Amino acid sequence: MTYKRSIIVTGGAGFIGSHVVRLLVNKYPDYRIVNLDKLTYAGNLANLRDVEQSGNYLFRKADICDFDTVLRLMRQYKVDGIIHLAAESHVDRSIRDPFTFARTNVMGTLSLLQAAKTYWESLPEGYDGKLFYHISTDEVYGALQLTHPEGIPSPSHHLAYGTDFFRETTKYQPHSPYSASKASSDHFVRAYHDTYGMPTIVTNCSNNYGPYQFPEKLIPLFINNIQHARPLPVYGRGENVRDWLYVEDHARAIDLIFHQGKAGETYNIGGFNEWKNIDIVRLLIETVDRLTGKPKGASLGLITYITDRPGHDLRYAIDSSKLRRELGWEPSLQFEEGIERTVRWYLDNQQWMDSVTSGDYERYYEQMYRGR
Ligand code: NAD
Ligand code: DAU
Repeated sequence: MTYKRSIIVTGGAGFIGSHVVRLLVNKYPDYRIVNLDKLTYAGNLANLRDVEQSGNYLFRKADICDFDTVLRLMRQYKVDGIIHLAAESHVDRSIRDPFTFARTNVMGTLSLLQAAKTYWESLPEGYDGKLFYHISTDEVYGALQLTHPEGIPSPSHHLAYGTDFFRETTKYQPHSPYSASKASSDHFVRAYHDTYGMPTIVTNCSNNYGPYQFPEKLIPLFINNIQHARPLPVYGRGENVRDWLYVEDHARAIDLIFHQGKAGETYNIGGFNEWKNIDIVRLLIETVDRLTGKPKGASLGLITYITDRPGHDLRYAIDSSKLRRELGWEPSLQFEEGIERTVRWYLDNQQWMDSVTSGDYERYYEQMYRGR
C-alpha cells in the first residue's frame, strides 16, 4: 500500500506519545505511523493495545541515540514527518541522574536531527513536504513569580497566581537538569532550521494529565496512594503552581500543529488552568474517596509535607494565545471534568497500574526484544 504520509513518532509507547499515536492511527488510515521507542521504564506497549493490530501502525524498538538504526528506519519507511516525543521526562530522576538526561534528551535529539538531515538531503526533492516536529516543555522558561497567592479570577482562567506568563518570546532560563536538557534540545532543533533549512517546529507545553501516565508523576502517584491509604508526599508546603492540560487536548494540538503549523515557528500549548499542588491534592482526595465509597475527607490525613524538591520551580503559567489565534486550538475539557475522568480511568485500570508498578512489564519486554 502507498501511504499519503509516513511518520515516525518517537516515544510513542510513553504517556503523551501513546495518545498521539492512537489519535493519528485512528484519524488517518492512509498514513503509516511508525512508533520508534526504546521501551525504557516509562515506555509500555500496553498503552497501545487498542491500536496495535491496525494495518497502518508499526512498532520498532530502537534508541534515538542509535544513528545507524534510526537512519535505516527512515529510509526503509520513506519517512516524511517526525514527531519527536522520546525523552527522559521526570524532574526528580534528572536530579539524581543528569547524565542520562543529557544523553537521551540532548544527544538523542541531535542524533535524530542529523539522521533526518542525512536522509532528507539525499532525496531529489530535499526538504519539500518534510517536517521535524519537536515536543518540548514550558519548564525551559524557568519559573514565574507567585505574586497573587489567593489567585486572580479571570474569564479564561481557573485562577491566575501572578500577572506574568510564559510566551514564545520568553527568555530560556531552565533550572533542573531535565529542563536544561530540554532547553538544549530545543536550541539544536532551531539551529537545524536556521543553519540547514530543515523545516522544524517546536512546541512548549504545560503539565499534562490523563490515562497512561507513569505513576511517578504527581497525579497518578497520588491517585494510587489515596486508593491504597499510603502517604501523599507533598513537596514543601504544596504552594507551587502548575498549569494543567488534559493529555488528549495536547494530542489534538500536536495533530493540528503538525498539519497547519508554520515551519521555523514555536507554539506554546496550555489550558490557562493554574492550580496549586495542595488544591489538586485535595481535589484528588475528594474524587477518589467519593468514587471508592469512603466518607468525605477520609484520606485528608494522608497528606505528608516533605522536604522540598531542590530548585523547585514556583509557578508555571503558559500563554497559549498564539496557538488559539493562529490555528484556532482550544482545550476541550474543564479541569474538574478531566480529573473525574482520569481518576475513574486509574480506578478502572488497576491491572495496568499494578503491572507498571511491579516492573513485570519491563522484564517481559526485555525478554521479548532481546537481540533485536
Ligand atoms: P514519558 O516518560 O511518559 O515517555 C517517554 C517515552 O520515551 C517512553 O516511551 C520511553 O520508552 C521513550 N524513550 C526514552 N528514551 C528513549 C530513547 N533513548 N530512545 C527511544 N525512546 C526513548 O514522557 P511523556 O510525559 O509522555 O513526555 C513526552 C514528551 O513530552 C517529552 O519530550 C517531554 O519532555 C514532553 N512534555 C511532557 C509533559 C508532561 O507533562 N508529561 C509536558 C510537556 C512536554
Ligand atoms: O511543565 C511540564 C512538565 O510537567 C513536563 O515537562 C515534565 O515532563 C513533567 O514531568 C511535569 O513536570 P513537573 O515536575 O511539574 O511534574 P510532577 O508531576 O513531577 O510534579 C508536579 C508538581 O507536584 C511539582 O510542583 C512537584 C510536586 N510533587 C510531585 C511529586 C511527584 C509533589 O509535591 N510530590 C510528589 O511526589
